[in-house]
Amino acid sequence: MRRDVEMPIGYRLVSLEETGSTNSEAMRLATLGEAGGLWITAERQTRGRGRSGRTWRSVPGNLYASLMLRLSCDPQTAQQLALVTGVAVVDAIRAASSGGARRAVEPGPGRSFRLKWPNDILAGPAKLGGILLESARDVGGPGLVTVIGIGLNVAAAPDGLDRAATSLADCGVAVERCRMLASVASAMDSALQVWNEGSGFADIRRLWLERAGPLDELLTVNSGSGAVTGRYQGLDGDGALLLADGLGVRRRFTYGDVSLAGTGEPQ
Ligand code: BTN
Repeated sequence: MRRDVEMPIGYRLVSLEETGSTNSEAMRLATLGEAGGLWITAERQTRGRGRSGRTWRSVPGNLYASLMLRLSCDPQTAQQLALVTGVAVVDAIRAASSGGARRAVEPGPGRSFRLKWPNDILAGPAKLGGILLESARDVGGPGLVTVIGIGLNVAAAPDGLDRAATSLADCGVAVERCRMLASVASAMDSALQVWNEGSGFADIRRLWLERAGPLDELLTVNSGSGAVTGRYQGLDGDGALLLADGLGVRRRFTYGDVSLAGTGEPQ
């Protein structure tokens, strides 16, 4: 990764050849007293982590980046950053893929770049990237340290996954990783300003819904107490997922793994 990637004002970038996990490195630097607004990126991760204890594989040419923030909001409000980041990543992909053209490249009919609750970036039904949010109490003060990890398949999707995956290259979007990072950093800066530590969450929720799949799409949620399949009904005011189950009863989920029903994804 080139070291001259342009960062928005107030942000710094540490670019590494290799690290275990950019999230772990960002948290380590926070405990050493680094100020917030720090991006860490690496060419390779040797112990990349996904949600729910899964491994995030390090395919050459993909984007692995984490943003460390120091926040004064409570941990529950900080969870909203998954939606903030989703909005930013979709906007960054659209901006990077437009290459200055008026309209962004979309990955073919029925395969638009979009969000799936809570943390997935999709191209059509296939996973293009994911977000891993980790927070800890700030040892040096009353606030919170939050690390937002972003993995984006820029060059290639890992082989042999048990769910559909794709890459920007597969979607016909040729973008350099450093340009993608600059685009993500800029879109994150804008989305964080809208969010404003939670006071702008209503706007973030609206932006997220505009970038998500259609209402009534069939989803399966596994929140640890069995799988529930139902029709997507958007998000409530707190960002929880709403589904209408087979009996038409509205169910609310604050966490869980979600798959598009009928795509063969594991629950
Ligand atoms: C998921 O969809 O499960 C989330 C994947 C998050 C992967 C990124 S890659 C950069 C950062 N470092 C990690 O170890 N994980 C995140």
